[in-house]
Amino acid sequence: MGEKNQSNQKRVLTGITTSGIPHLGNLSGAVLPAIDASREKTVSSFLFLADYHSLIKNIDPALTHSSSFEIAACWLACGLNPKEVTFYRQSDVPHIFELTWILNCLAAKGLMNRAHAYKAAVAENNNATDPDKGITMGLYNYPILMAADILMFKADIVPVGQDQKQHIEMTRDIALRFNHYYGNILSIPEAMIDEKKGIIPGSDGRKMSKSYGNTIPIFDTQKKLRKAIMKIKTNSLEPGEPKNHADCSVFKIFQAFASESQTSDLKKEYANGIAWGKAKEELFSLLDEKITPFRDEYGKITQDKSYIEKTLKDGAERALTISTPVIEEIRKAVGIKEFK
Ligand code: TRP
Repeated sequence: MGEKNQSNQKRVLTGITTSGIPHLGNLSGAVLPAIDASREKTVSSFLFLADYHSLIKNIDPALTHSSSFEIAACWLACGLNPKEVTFYRQSDVPHIFELTWILNCLAAKGLMNRAHAYKAAVAENNNATDPDKGITMGLYNYPILMAADILMFKADIVPVGQDQKQHIEMTRDIALRFNHYYGNILSIPEAMIDEKKGIIPGSDGRKMSKSYGNTIPIFDTQKKLRKAIMKIKTNSLEPGEPKNHADCSVFKIFQAFASESQTSDLKKEYANGIAWGKAKEELFSLLDEKITPFRDEYGKITQDKSYIEKTLKDGAERALTISTPVIEEIRKAVGIKEFK
């Protein structure tokens, strides 16, 4: 019987691909809920920068480097406490990549053929003579690297967005196969999926997303924040005409950050015919108040590269104390061991 996670704390682990600086939608959907969850005393929380995953989409070294730095700074600025969370860079834990190879040798190719991201890339090649045109082994193997991220730390729970659910199922599949051949060593993780979180609208009413160009920035200047808010699409109702809060982007964004009483006050103002300019002003002042401490902290933290580097190195050191005995157990189980 393998060594399981012995403590009675559940291990909760999640990764952040280091591309693109988070916007307001990521803040309410992922960053703040994950930071809140990490404060739970009953869990042991692991959060890491999936910097090697980012190479799949980006081959610009300067961008790879700066994204990783900005995302680390963002999480720290938004309140992640590295004393409460094991916060590390994937690339600082080489055991993950060793495990990736071992899992590669077990994972069925047919399983990877069914991965949504791979299938979407093939579908885009619709009429090409080579259906795999432009598709790298990195994209193809993405789910296996992700499985190694999770299994390396015997995570119990993996909070992810709906789009990642299939990857957790694949991880379970691969782990069961490993245990079947080599003994009961790996923990079988559960996905924790929050369906609703993160779905706040952008300035055009569609889901806020970098790919739609409708995001509201977090760390830009106050001026840019105001500008982004004033750009949010509304209908053409005049001041004084009652407005429906339920189908209004301004209201939905407000609600994601406001207290219950603030929300019900704004609801009343909508019924009383608040002017769009005023509603947007209220949203601006709410967001500005929420974001200013994060923006200030981000400004300070990014001045101090060595603080961020040291924080991540400390996190990696803690991560390595967990991964080292696990990889040793795995190597032995597969027969990679000393002659004696
Ligand atoms: N693939 C995840 C995403 O794009 C990021 C990620 C990488 C991850 N490794 C992980 C998430 C391990 C959870 C666990 O969002």
